[in-house]
Amino acid sequence: MKTDTDIGDTRPAEGVERGPRHVAIIMDGNGRWAQARGRPRLFGHHAGARRVREVVECCPSLGIRYLTIFAFSTENWKRTQVEVAGLMSLFRRYISKEMKALAAQNVRVRFIGDRVRLDKKLIALMDALERETEGNEGTQLTIALNYGGRDEVARATKRLARDVADGKLDPADVDEETLPKYLDTCVLPDPDLVVRTSGEARISNFLLWQSAYSEYEFIDTLWPDFTAEELAALCRSFGARDRRFGAVKT
Ligand code: IPE
Ligand code: IPE
Ligand code: MG
Repeated sequence: MKTDTDIGDTRPAEGVERGPRHVAIIMDGNGRWAQARGRPRLFGHHAGARRVREVVECCPSLGIRYLTIFAFSTENWKRTQVEVAGLMSLFRRYISKEMKALAAQNVRVRFIGDRVRLDKKLIALMDALERETEGNEGTQLTIALNYGGRDEVARATKRLARDVADGKLDPADVDEETLPKYLDTCVLPDPDLVVRTSGEARISNFLLWQSAYSEYEFIDTLWPDFTAEELAALCRSFGARDRRFGAVKT
C-alpha cells in the first residue's frame, strides 16, 4: 500500500517526536457558537472557517504532517436548505480565497468524500485546489466534504467487487491490507489523534475504518473558539499516552 513515505519528507519538527503525525479534527459547535451570540447558524460557520488557517499554519511547528478536517458529512444534507446552500457557498468562497495562501505555505490539499452530490462549480474549485497544490510537500491537508465513513466503505466495497468481477482481484487475497487501498484515504496513514470539539463524545461517521487505533480527545471548546495553543496542548498530552495496539509492554 502507498504510505506517507511516498509523499515526501516525514521528519517531525525538533522536540515533537512523540507528538501525533496525523491529526484528524471533527470541527463541531459552529451553530451553538452563533446561537450563543444571537446570530444565525451561518455566522458560526463563517467564524469556524476562519479558524482553519491558524490551525493549518501551526502544524509544522507541532510536527503534524497530516491534518484531516471534517467539513461536511453525508448526514449534513438533512439540515435546512438555507444552511446547506450557505455552507456550499462558504466552501466555494473558502477555496477561492485560501488557494494562494495554502499554495504559498507549501500545503498540499486533498478532498475525501463523495463528489457526486456536489455542484459543478464547487467540484471544479476542489479539482483546481488539488491540482494547484499537488507538488507541495509541507502539511498534507485533507478536507472531508460530503464524507461519511459508512458511505466510504460502501463505495470502496463496490470498487473492490468490480475488480473481483473483472478478474483483477482474487477474493482469497482480500485482507486488512486490501480494503484500505480502495478507501478515499488510500495514500494517507491512519490518524494518530482524533479531536472533536463542542463537548459531544461521538464520532458521527468520521474515519470509521482508519481510526480503529486512534487516540481520541473530546473537548468542550466550540470550533470557532479553537486555537493553535489548544492544539499544542492536545499534542503534548498525546505524547504522554501509552499506545499499546493490543500488545502488552514487556
Ligand atoms: C459543525 O458545526 C459544522 C458542520 C457540521 C457543517 P455544527 O453546525 O454542527 O454546530 P452545532 O453542533 O450545531 O453547534
Ligand atoms: C459532524 O458534526 C460533522 C462535521 C463536523 C462536519 P455534526 O454536528 O453533523 O454531528 P452530530 O449530528 O452532532 O452527530
Ligand atoms: Mg454539530
